[in-house]
Amino acid sequence: MTPDPVRRADAPTAHHGAPDTVDFFPPGLFEEDRQALIRLVREVGLDPEQRFILGRRTAAFEDLLRTALGAADVIACSSGTSALTLILSAMGIGADDEVIVPAFGCAPLAASVIRAGAVPVFADVRPDTLTIDPDRAERLVTARTRALMPAHMFSVMADMPRFVDLAARRDLRLVEDSAVAQGGTLRGVPAGLWGEAGVYSFVQVKTCGMPGEGAVITTRDQELGHRLRMLRNHGQRPGQRFVHHAVGVNSRFDEVQAAFQTHRFPGFADRLARRAEIAAHYTERFAPLAEHGVHPPVPDADGRCFYVYAVLAEERDALAAHLAQRGVATHVYYPRPLPEHRAFAPYARAGTHWPHASAAADRHLALPVHHLLTDAQVERVAEGVVSFVRGRARA
Ligand SMILES: Cc1ncc(COP(=O)(O)O)c(C=O)c1O
Repeated sequence: MTPDPVRRADAPTAHHGAPDTVDFFPPGLFEEDRQALIRLVREVGLDPEQRFILGRRTAAFEDLLRTALGAADVIACSSGTSALTLILSAMGIGADDEVIVPAFGCAPLAASVIRAGAVPVFADVRPDTLTIDPDRAERLVTARTRALMPAHMFSVMADMPRFVDLAARRDLRLVEDSAVAQGGTLRGVPAGLWGEAGVYSFVQVKTCGMPGEGAVITTRDQELGHRLRMLRNHGQRPGQRFVHHAVGVNSRFDEVQAAFQTHRFPGFADRLARRAEIAAHYTERFAPLAEHGVHPPVPDADGRCFYVYAVLAEERDALAAHLAQRGVATHVYYPRPLPEHRAFAPYARAGTHWPHASAAADRHLALPVHHLLTDAQVERVAEGVVSFVRGRARA
């Protein structure tokens, strides 16, 4: 591997964790920017304007992302979950409507639909990409279906060209859950701009995470953007307080976080490049393991931003234990398909099955891929996986 382009020699590694472990969530994630954060807390706190939410710093951050993406609008709000619900509400999706979502993924995919008053319809995923299968989604379209909500999964983008086509053919709205895919592109189009609206979550472990809750909505539709701005702030139009045009929510954005995100944005490309470099190394090391039951993510590089690097392993729990013994932390994100959770089972359509979602839940294992890993740590992770397979082959 080439030298680490991001981590400085004096940057922290795992000093909050045990000394010889490879952390999954980096403990020193914001250490390099600690002084900047303290300065910004003081700056916002002492600003004569005394404006702590939705002020000029939030507007500047929204503008920065809008320009970088070439979007019609970028609307900062309080979380990715809230962003998804706002989009569905802004589209007028509610009671009696159905929204097709993947059966494998995070709770907000189903919960946002239910919170908007609609019904999630779970479609199985593709066994290789773990993203929603467009053919299965199409088979679930009924007269009540109003929207499709594909989600990008780990490092792989959903098949957005197929979903754009399906939405156009069946006259459906297209919401892109790109919460984990900020920085990803597919056929040159950024994640978040394939749907009528997309989202980026800024929870700390995301590709452009921050120390707190927050997200943005990205859209190519200016009108939708206006409505979302109103809904995120109690139905008030920007600059016109205490006049409520619609029933909105409080989904506002913090000024300190906006300033901090703006401060860190110039380093985003390098942090992503480091993740991609680590992922490329893993994939090279793991390519020969597929015939021994450990599958790296599909090799096509288009659309990637390595939020998470997940392998599929037939003996997932044994692999996790083997890595833990070597001080390598791993993570299982979704141990069961969404419709198999008690919260969402009542919404599961009778007679539908999700065999690929179940297989993914049983087999996926995420490895550390954050930008603060040293080359030695990356090699330790890779060697841990390879030695597991070697040991199995010998046994
Ligand atoms: C695919 C996906 N969608 C939505 C969300 C919700 O984002 P947030 O945690 O900011 O509410 C997440 C968060 O983890 C996610 O992974």
